Amino acid sequence: MQNPIGTEQTAGARQPIGVFDSGYGGLTVLKELVAHLPQYDYIYLGDNARAPYGNRSFETVYQYTLQAVEWLFDQGCPLVILACNTASAKALRTIQQNDLPRIAPDHRVLGVIRPTTEVVGNFTKTGKVGVLATRGTVLSGSYPIEIEKFYPEIAVFQQAAPLWVPLIENNEHDKAGADYFVKEYMDQLKQQSQEIDTVLLACTHYPLLKDKIARHLPAGSVLISQGEIVANSLVDYLKRHPEMETRLSRGGDLRFYTTDSPEDFDNHASIFYGRDLHSEHVNFQIFP
Ligand code: DGL
Repeated sequence: MQNPIGTEQTAGARQPIGVFDSGYGGLTVLKELVAHLPQYDYIYLGDNARAPYGNRSFETVYQYTLQAVEWLFDQGCPLVILACNTASAKALRTIQQNDLPRIAPDHRVLGVIRPTTEVVGNFTKTGKVGVLATRGTVLSGSYPIEIEKFYPEIAVFQQAAPLWVPLIENNEHDKAGADYFVKEYMDQLKQQSQEIDTVLLACTHYPLLKDKIARHLPAGSVLISQGEIVANSLVDYLKRHPEMETRLSRGGDLRFYTTDSPEDFDNHASIFYGRDLHSEHVNFQIFP
């Protein structure tokens, strides 16, 4: 039997790619990053103790995300991917513009929204795109704003699905009870336009509901998860930024950290990652 990943140790200075999500969802992105770029070292951090982020205020998501980014920098990561739409929508710009120049000018933080919005025009024929996301991501308006920049002709219809992340984090997504809430939000999305032919899963947890969601879409519709898109975008980014690429350590080493119970993380994470994992606890000071 294979050892759970996260248990290997490699020698030398590690300069891993940091990957952050509020909980488990970012593992769906990490899996694709590792598949496309297996040579690098990675550290995954899930803020499970404070998940979900979806209904939290801008200020709270920003503070939590900044704390996670600083911790990943302290672990030696010169590059951090926010594999969380809510954090990308609510915290990324402020961190890039206000915090990075002050705390770590030669480090980089990237999100998942821009890579997704860049390619969405390749999929839709009707020019009507649905965006399924947390309430926080929807209220931020990030998707309509970013899609408009690349594809002004596309109409975007957003639907918040605030109960999906709690269902997924509690391992209820495969059960019949989840069908009700999938139908509920999909009906609300379809009521906005009958012509939507492309639906973005704009929350990194949602790929776990992909089959149930697909049942509510007309044949020929496209349902887009972000993992592969973000991985392709990172491949491209590293080609364009050799000054960052050459800093990254290459041991193929993966480490996992959670702000909650490592036992719970290890039991649950394999559903998202597709392999057994071993995680360690990191103790964050909880903000009031
Ligand atoms: N997986 C995250 C996202 O992509 C966050 C979900 C949450 O914490 O509510 O938005």
